Amino acid sequence: MDRVRAAAHPRSWHHGSVRLRTLIPVTAALGAAAAGYATVIERNWFALRRFSLPVLPPGSEPLRVLHISDAHLTPGRKRLMSWIRALDDLDPHLVVNTGDSIAHPEAVRPFLDSLGPLLDRPGVFVFGSNDLYGPKPGNPLRYLLPEGSRGRSARKVADLPWEKLRDGMLAAGWLDLNNQRGQLTVGGLDIAFGGVHDSHIYRDRYEQIAGPADPDADLRIAVLHSPEPRLLDRFAADGYDLLLAGHTHGGQLCLPVYGTLVTNCGIDRERARGLHRHPADGQAWLHVSAGLGTSPWAPARFACRPEASLLTLVPRDPA
Ligand SMILES: [Fe+2]
Repeated sequence: MDRVRAAAHPRSWHHGSVRLRTLIPVTAALGAAAAGYATVIERNWFALRRFSLPVLPPGSEPLRVLHISDAHLTPGRKRLMSWIRALDDLDPHLVVNTGDSIAHPEAVRPFLDSLGPLLDRPGVFVFGSNDLYGPKPGNPLRYLLPEGSRGRSARKVADLPWEKLRDGMLAAGWLDLNNQRGQLTVGGLDIAFGGVHDSHIYRDRYEQIAGPADPDADLRIAVLHSPEPRLLDRFAADGYDLLLAGHTHGGQLCLPVYGTLVTNCGIDRERARGLHRHPADGQAWLHVSAGLGTSPWAPARFACRPEASLLTLVPRDPA
């Protein structure tokens, strides 16, 4: 027996060693392949999501709303720029931009050029933190850390030209909804809007827009960057029919099947992207865009393709 054990031990050690010697390079190769895929392929593999939702008065014509978010544009991202520009082919009645459009001091002009013909259409916008504060190098895996453990920007002075970005969109007639209300007639429908600046950097001032959304409008749309539940609750309580947000990047680095790992704000993982209700069992519709881009310092997306969404609004069933 001892002889057997003595003989078996070096053999199993040998096998274990071989297994380990195989496992390390295989794991490293898989890791490198996944990183290459996430940074080169999926990051440029843009998806158009389509949803249809019954929020219009009975008898209305369908209304196409293009929701874009989180482009985080730097001047070199030509593929992203031409993909955004081609979204005009969808012939949307309305464009909603939920922020984080730029990630570079020279990105305003390229971003406005990317919008191109979309700027000739009715549009509304809010800002995200990244429209004001340029990206800083950091651990690219910080997206996987839970909310609250990463710290937030302590910077007080904006270093990106957000005024230029705002002025460019205002010049096209788009509505600035940062802590403001607004109204547009689009496709023959009166739409009441309410929006807030980014709660992720404590710039939201709901009290400035609080109160019931116009009950006489055909539709009430709330626009915000971060889908923070306390704000979504207020919009829903004030009677907004459709709540549009971005910010989460859908998690950006996701696990197949499991999905979003972190949401970067208070929203639950299950509603970090796509179309849901708010509250989860409530009346308002919530659409969270997983966004078009990434921070230049975390240039990867995995199991979470960059996206824009075309929301086709159709009539509710008659009560
Ligand atoms: Fe973002």
